[in-house]
Amino acid sequence: MSNIVVVGAQWGDEGKGKVVDLLAEQSKWVVRYQGGNNAGHTLVVDGRKVVLHLVPSGILQPACTCVIGNGVVVNPAVLLEELDELAALGHSVTPDRLVLSSEAHLILPWHLALDRARESALGDKRIGTTGKGIGPAYEDKVGRRGLRVADLFDRDALASRIREVLPENNRRLTEWYGEPPIVLEDVVDSLGPVADRLRPYARPATRLLYEACKRGEPVLFEGAQGTFLDVDHGTYPFVTSSNTVAGSACAGAGVGPTAITDVIGIAKAYCTRVGSGPFPTELDNELGEKIRTIGQEFGATTGRPRRCGWFDVPLLRHAVMVNGMTELALTKLDILSGLGPIQVGMAYRLGGRVIEDVPAGAAALERVEIDYEVFPGWDADLSRVRAWGELPAACRNYVAALEHHVGVPIRLLGVGPGRESVIRREPGST
Ligand code: IMP
Repeated sequence: MSNIVVVGAQWGDEGKGKVVDLLAEQSKWVVRYQGGNNAGHTLVVDGRKVVLHLVPSGILQPACTCVIGNGVVVNPAVLLEELDELAALGHSVTPDRLVLSSEAHLILPWHLALDRARESALGDKRIGTTGKGIGPAYEDKVGRRGLRVADLFDRDALASRIREVLPENNRRLTEWYGEPPIVLEDVVDSLGPVADRLRPYARPATRLLYEACKRGEPVLFEGAQGTFLDVDHGTYPFVTSSNTVAGSACAGAGVGPTAITDVIGIAKAYCTRVGSGPFPTELDNELGEKIRTIGQEFGATTGRPRRCGWFDVPLLRHAVMVNGMTELALTKLDILSGLGPIQVGMAYRLGGRVIEDVPAGAAALERVEIDYEVFPGWDADLSRVRAWGELPAACRNYVAALEHHVGVPIRLLGVGPGRESVIRREPGST
């Protein structure tokens, strides 16, 4: 039995969904355990695009049951929209295919309003959030003011709970940000039909996963965002509001650490970041623009252009450490074709001295200088290559060097957007 956590090793958008979709073939369960609809994964189904934000990427594997775990924050309207979109594509998601943890917290209208109002008040100091209410929803969860999926199903209790928590949020909205207040009755009325549709999906996810693990059924845990957006281990304060690292799978799904057997990190063959915050190997120039265009580096959730830069070894080594990563998958290798010489950030310097670790906090990371190593590039189109031995020698050399310096085996390479566009590799091969 293998229970695998798939985790982003950079700042998100590493192509986790594609790897999850692939690994889901051998899984019985696919579980989201943190984040919310700030995540976005584009799937192509019979030539039509569908962007999933909340439904786990395993949904297209008919033998998989998908779980939205307790650690996820759920905007109920967004979840229903996704289910409708999937149904329109002929993938009707019945409750036996999707479990929504009754303990997951809800994203409610004041969370969205506060997220957006706060960001606009911050001006050029803004985080660059996705504006989906993620931060305020987690704040309410930790502040014990949240509402959970289970609360949706008792209309009277729901109204009285909203009556308790709304005034504080409305005061923030109106007095701090000059925004209109949220009207209690509007919220309660809008949640009624939503609750009726979601009720069949709401089940005790933790118990179901416990039983599944006991039966030896493989479980895949699908991380959202990436290691450096983790609220503890990322480039604080330019982070998301959940723990994105692999350990979070346990708390966010309700399984014990002993249930996890492998942690697969996903990294792009270069690096991207969306939103504000430090990015040591960023290419704020024509080359960065070229990578953005070739790699179609625009956010799946917000459409924002992603910042692009070179692969960063110290960052990846840190990700290996904080995730207990057992292997790495390298995606979008095809994008580097034809770019000329390829650089890799090999070491960080602060005050002229090489430092061992990624410094804590955004301010110190802004100050690091990078020692780069230059690798010869390659021109061949990789998108049809399916065997390691058929890759250009320069490309194999690049991957082998990253494996050596990062320190974990690279077994899987992505060379295109499709499910079939992968190369499997024996670790250590050159
Ligand atoms: P929030 O998660 O919407 O609060 O945004 C906080 C930070 O995380 C911002 O920099 C976002 O751009 C970033 N972020 C959130 N979700 C994703 C994602 O799925 N991919 C990449 N960046 C993300």
